[in-house]
Amino acid sequence: MSIRLLDHRDARYIQKLASSEHISKTTNVPYPYPQNGGSDFINFAFSSYETRKSMPFAIEIDKTFVGIVTIHGLKETPSIDYWIGYPYWGKGFASHAVKEALDYGLSFLDITIFQSKALVSNKASHKVLLKNGFTKVGEEDYSGPKKSHIGKKLIIFQTKKC
Ligand SMILES: CC(C)(COP(=O)(O)OP(=O)(O)OC[C@H]1O[C@@H](n2cnc3c(N)ncnc32)[C@H](O)[C@@H]1OP(=O)(O)O)[C@@H](O)C(=O)NCCC(=O)NCCS
Repeated sequence: MSIRLLDHRDARYIQKLASSEHISKTTNVPYPYPQNGGSDFINFAFSSYETRKSMPFAIEIDKTFVGIVTIHGLKETPSIDYWIGYPYWGKGFASHAVKEALDYGLSFLDITIFQSKALVSNKASHKVLLKNGFTKVGEEDYSGPKKSHIGKKLIIFQTKKC
C-alpha cells in the first residue's frame, strides 16, 4: 500500500468508487454521485492544494487506485479525512493510509497535531483513528451540507506526533 499526490487521471476511479451509498452514508459525499463528480473533486482538491490549504493523496495497492486520504486545514488546525472504495474495505488499507499521511505531515509539513471527526455511528473510522494514536477529545453536532446527517453527532479525535 502506498499514497501519492492525487492526479487528474484519478478522476475516473474516483467517479467509480465514490459513487456508492456505502461511502455517502458516513461522509459529505453525495449519493447519487454527480456525473462529473470525479473531475469536479479533482479540480477542487487541486485548487486547495495550489493555495497550500490541503494535501490530497490517492491510496494505491499495487498501482490500483483504492481511495483517498487528505490532510486539510494546513493554514489552520490540520485535519485528516479519508475513504476507501467499498470493494476494498476490511483489509487494513485505511489504517495504513492514515499512518502514511500522518508520517508525511510530520516529516514534510511540520504538522505535530492532527484532528479528525467521525459520526458517532462510524465505528470503522473510530477504529482507524484509534489504531493511529488518536484519542477522543470531544463531540459536536454535525453542521455540514448533508441534510441526512443533521441532528447527528460527530466525535472529535486528536493526535500529537513528535
Ligand atoms: C472507514 C473506512 C475508511 C475504513 O476503511 P478500511 O480500509 O475498511 O479500514 P481498516 O480495514 O483499516 O480498519 C477498519 C477497522 O474497523 C473495524 N470495523 C469495521 N466495521 C466495524 C464496526 N461496525 N464496528 C467496529 N469495528 C468495525 C475493522 O474490524 C477494522 O479493525 P481491525 O483492523 O482491528 O480489524 C471505510 O469504511 C470507508 O471508506 N467508509 C466510508 C467513508 C468514511 O466513513 N470515511 C471516514 C470519514 S470520518
